[in-house]
Amino acid sequence: MTTTETPDMLHRILDYSSRSDPYPLYAELRRTPVARQDDGSYVISTYRELADILHNPHLSSDVRNLSHPMPSAEAGGTPSFINMDPPDHDRLRRMAMRHFGPPHTPGLVTALEPDLTATVGGLLDDCAGKEQIDIVDDLAYPFPVSVICHLLGVPREDEPRFRVWVNDLINSIDYDPRTDPKQKLDDGVQARQDLREYLGGLVEQRHGRPGDDLLARLANDDGPDGRMTDEEIISTANLLLIAGHETTVNLIANGMLTLLRHPQILERLRGEPDLVVPLVEELLRYEPPVHIIPWRAAYSDVTVADTVIPQGSQVMLMLASGSRDPDRFHDPDRFDPDRSDNQHLGFGSGIHLCFGGPLARREAQIALTELVRRLDRPSLVADPPPYRRSPVLRGPIHLRVEQNGG
Ligand code: HEM
Repeated sequence: MTTTETPDMLHRILDYSSRSDPYPLYAELRRTPVARQDDGSYVISTYRELADILHNPHLSSDVRNLSHPMPSAEAGGTPSFINMDPPDHDRLRRMAMRHFGPPHTPGLVTALEPDLTATVGGLLDDCAGKEQIDIVDDLAYPFPVSVICHLLGVPREDEPRFRVWVNDLINSIDYDPRTDPKQKLDDGVQARQDLREYLGGLVEQRHGRPGDDLLARLANDDGPDGRMTDEEIISTANLLLIAGHETTVNLIANGMLTLLRHPQILERLRGEPDLVVPLVEELLRYEPPVHIIPWRAAYSDVTVADTVIPQGSQVMLMLASGSRDPDRFHDPDRFDPDRSDNQHLGFGSGIHLCFGGPLARREAQIALTELVRRLDRPSLVADPPPYRRSPVLRGPIHLRVEQNGG
């Protein structure tokens, strides 16, 4: 396997015109599993090499290990553990996970199920009788936002305030060539500061007041690793608030879009609700919400597929391409919920494997089951639908659907 310079291919993928269907370009990209770019960064696009990198301790998630540190809206402040390496990553992940899942809080997602179903039911009740609904605005966005607000202890009614900050933050790490990079970065830094101040206020209210929400638990917990500092709680809350909804919205919207493009599978799901479990798994492979991990940094010279990636290089991980790699998945461009060997890269892999996977899966399963059960003869208003600008967190910005045969 050789290293070839394929900058044009990456630019074509990042260009907004490719957003509705980047998969043929990924197929071309995979011809060079480890591709060096003009700027000295490397793009990895094949399953085997991605899995190797995700498990390779010589690759860092800490931006400070890049030889040309990237301008980032996180610069200057305490990063969250997604952007840290062991041992700090492991300590903070463990401290947050204590309240979020097994082994200490094993029943979290199961206990939430009645609330999840009620929230989806309420949102769909509001759509009853409408001939046209927007799957994103009416369900896929408000649903996970309500859930993560509830879990963290962030007031739901503050959503219009934090939505602006979250959008600016996401835009600041985007590749939109239309916006001035300095302006974008400044907006990102300001948004991050505003969001931190806001979350800091909520953390302050929790001190000395144990409670059930995650902020109260983190502010008062004296577990085996001690207690997080306020800065660490704020960074963790920031990460969970953003990761907790910006991704799941795409899974639900991409899911409904895929079902409407595969009407026989939609019909099957109506009569066979258990199908939703492997179906969501297949969605995470076939139309994943996170297409790209924009960077890892090489701690030392690393050899991947016979290519030496020099220390300090930026490495870009094309997860969605890996999950469509024909060397790993049989007939990868076919949406097949009956696929049995489906170890996709939708939630990443290795020590940074998504921590919200069980919650996101259940949210998507419930949302899709209810949509299919309750919508009457749904059909797409536009195919392809309009997409969000981001090539990293990829999904429709709106997904308008007509019902009642409308
Ligand atoms: C369908 C929805 C989701 C997808 C596709 C997704 C995807 C991912 C991916 C690919 C990573 C790995 C990032 C890396 O290696 O740098 C990740 C990490 C993470 N995700 Fe998710 N995620 C989803 C939902 C959630 C939810 C609902 C939460 C929390 C409530 C969450 C919390 C996290 C956290 C905390 C990390 C960092 C883990 C670490 O660094 O150890 N995610 N996610």
